[in-house]
Amino acid sequence: MPSGLRDGTGARPALSAILVAMVLGAAGCTPLDDLMADIFKRSMRNQESFDPYENTLPPPEGSVAMSAGNYAASPFEVNLGQPEGASDVPPPFTQLDMTNRPEIVDRLANPVPSSPESLARGEELYDRVCVVCHGSDGAGTTGYIFEVHPLMAAYPLRAPRAVALSDGYIYGMIRVGRGNMPAYGHQIPHYDRWHVVNYVRQLQGVGAEGAN
Ligand code: HEC
Repeated sequence: MPSGLRDGTGARPALSAILVAMVLGAAGCTPLDDLMADIFKRSMRNQESFDPYENTLPPPEGSVAMSAGNYAASPFEVNLGQPEGASDVPPPFTQLDMTNRPEIVDRLANPVPSSPESLARGEELYDRVCVVCHGSDGAGTTGYIFEVHPLMAAYPLRAPRAVALSDGYIYGMIRVGRGNMPAYGHQIPHYDRWHVVNYVRQLQGVGAEGAN
């Protein structure tokens, strides 16, 4: 090993070069980069790295992104993205609208009849997404989170208050949430939300039209 390295003297020229580089660097990035590249024979700027949000693997052929239009062409089709001219997806609304301007969602008509297929699909999604908080029977006290979040008792889906909600309002709750309930619109696409609405209506024992 050369003695300069063992006693540390070899490091000094590099150290002063870094100090010079830092002073020069104040004038702008590029001269500093160039100098550092000269000293270390490589530059931090030209490295193989991924950009934020860069997709490192191409999606498998034929796959459809969850966010692809969030729309199936008809109630039981797989979500294939927004078809041309689709008009029955309601325009965007917010959580605040759910509280302050409920008429926006109240006037949405349920386009999906409450058939056995719709109820089966609704039940599947309800069991997957809603049951953890609202319970399989729609009573907030039977949800798995009740023990740690007893507030759920205040929102039983079978109480007269929830029965009185319109189909459109329940659709809105699923799509954007309200208060302590998060939005599930990203997980439950347009027609699936209506299937869940139909299923909630069945849990409430009020039929597909609910209290509309
Ligand atoms: C993480 C727990 C959680 C999940 C999951 C959840 N909810 Fe809720 N839900 C709540 C809470 C909390 C409220 C009360 C919201 C508030 O603070 O105003 C609520 C309120 C509601 C209401 C309004 C009840 C009322 O009396 O005003 C409806 C309808 C509803 N949820 C339906 C659903 C449906 C359908 C699903 C499944 C897609 C679902 N919720 C999933 C926690 C949840």
